[in-house]
Amino acid sequence: MADPSPPRIPQHLAVIMDGNGRWAQKRRRPRLLGHRAGANAANRCIDFCLARGINALTLYAFSSENWGRPDDEVNGLMKLFLQALESELASMIARGIRVRFIGERERFNDAIQERMRVAEERTQHLAKLNLNVAASYGGRGDVVHAAKKLATLVQSGDLRVDQIDESVFGRHVELADLPDPDLMIRTGGDQRISNFLLWQSAYTEFWFTDALWPDVDDKLLDQALSDYANRERRFGLTGEQARELTEQPA
Ligand code: FPP
Repeated sequence: MADPSPPRIPQHLAVIMDGNGRWAQKRRRPRLLGHRAGANAANRCIDFCLARGINALTLYAFSSENWGRPDDEVNGLMKLFLQALESELASMIARGIRVRFIGERERFNDAIQERMRVAEERTQHLAKLNLNVAASYGGRGDVVHAAKKLATLVQSGDLRVDQIDESVFGRHVELADLPDPDLMIRTGGDQRISNFLLWQSAYTEFWFTDALWPDVDDKLLDQALSDYANRERRFGLTGEQARELTEQPA
């Protein structure tokens, strides 16, 4: 008999979009062409999330460490970000997508910062999909930033040190208003977190594939979802306890 329960869909998907450079090099084309193909793949992934009912998608577009890449690649990526911010906003609004940026936005040029601000402002009422773009983001920086905010609150007398626990701390990292990522996909063959959502991914399920990001399609993403649906998430409990928690009637 077929399983009557609906498949478990992640509420929040995080993606490390790796392999754009190799995708271009395989074709003897400049790396930037790979990033352009990567931007198209990101758009397909957004549509996939909308179609599957995933409520939040966080894409790792540019890490704090990526500033160290050769100047022409960084400049090319900046041009690509600006173009995408200009050309995609109307389509984001039409698709009901709320866009947010996480990371050190002050490191981007004024034009990009302004476009980020406009995109956030004009989509803040939308709720079909929460799209978070990590841009000049680093997980360690995120945690340090939260620690600084708490230190400031303690210094001003608005918070006592003994009040700081994981729940208070967690309210000061990025994406605090969203559930933590249920599933993190990394393409490109490497199996590491590369300073992505360190705090937020404490109990995230990881899924790795050798596929290069521009080659990712719905079939592959469905495979990730299907593997995820078959995993047992225990959150540090025994399997029996975890099953009791998830099987309780609503
Ligand atoms: C990693 O591949 C990818 C990046 C550093 C950039 C990601 C950017 C995009 C997908 C395009 C823009 C996205 C948006 C949301 C507008 P890599 O260059 O490290 O690839 P490699 O490991 O093959 O060299």
